[in-house]
Amino acid sequence: MTATLTEPGALVSSDPGSAGHFFLSGSKAPQPAPDYAALSVRMRPSEYTAALLRVIEQRSPALSIRRTIDIGTGSGVLLAALAHSGATDLWGVDVDPDALSLAGALLASEAPGVPITLLNSHLWNDVPALRFDAVVANLPHYPAEVPLSPGRNPSWSGGGRRLLDEFLDGLAGHLAPGGVAWITHHALAGLDVSKAMLTRHGLVAEVVLTWTVYEPGDRVAALSPAVIAAERPRSLRCIAGYHFVDSHVLEIRRAGDPVATSSPASAGLQFGSKSSHTGTV
Ligand SMILES: C[S@@+](CC[C@H](N)C(=O)[O-])C[C@H]1O[C@@H](n2cnc3c(N)ncnc32)[C@H](O)[C@@H]1O
Repeated sequence: MTATLTEPGALVSSDPGSAGHFFLSGSKAPQPAPDYAALSVRMRPSEYTAALLRVIEQRSPALSIRRTIDIGTGSGVLLAALAHSGATDLWGVDVDPDALSLAGALLASEAPGVPITLLNSHLWNDVPALRFDAVVANLPHYPAEVPLSPGRNPSWSGGGRRLLDEFLDGLAGHLAPGGVAWITHHALAGLDVSKAMLTRHGLVAEVVLTWTVYEPGDRVAALSPAVIAAERPRSLRCIAGYHFVDSHVLEIRRAGDPVATSSPASAGLQFGSKSSHTGTV
């Protein structure tokens, strides 16, 4: 798909639905603009994206981040935060052309002059053989099929480890020496499984932020007995019929790369309930 940003807030696709690049330019061809007000409500960033924002702001100053990519960029707000932290080459990937449209408009105003490439792609499929100083991802991976939150896109929820596993499988081939990935990771999705996968790819992960969310009963009821047995009470706590679940941000590096940022314990990054997973996974 090729698209042109005609003015801030107007990203125009010449071939909707196909995979490929969005090229942003200053062309003034008259085109109807998408309804950005509606899109920005439908794609408002979640508390998981907010957690990643906090990690980017706290940990990126110790790094030299130039080329960066957000897999499942949604609103594009994480790329904007990376640009504010000094990134000079922004890449965003999403299966949803509306997300790319919104991200293009957001970045045109938040990161003017910074090169931006937006790809309508499934995960890494259409990402060229480049390495990135920072990779971020907040992909759906709740380990149960759950009803979609009202007003949200189907591509924002559920699906278990399918997307997470494919993302982790492709990560090592795109991480620059000394680079980092920051991803959200539900405790219920199995940190040990992710750790084993990353080890096989020569990567290591550390929990740099843990927080606790209230989970509605129908989402907890959809979990398999095996997940509940493994995680209760470690990361799933049930009090008087209310359910609380831990979630993490992982920092992933190539094994053997120096850690340029302070340790999570000394940085005091945890908030909410402290998890037994805190530390290297
Ligand atoms: C939870 S949202 C992330 C929101 C984003 N961090 C933000 O700042 O708004 C997940 C995003 O992943 C995208 N997504 C889902 N499946 C995908 C896939 N197979 N490949 C690429 N992106 C995908 C969704 O369209 C959605 O934009």
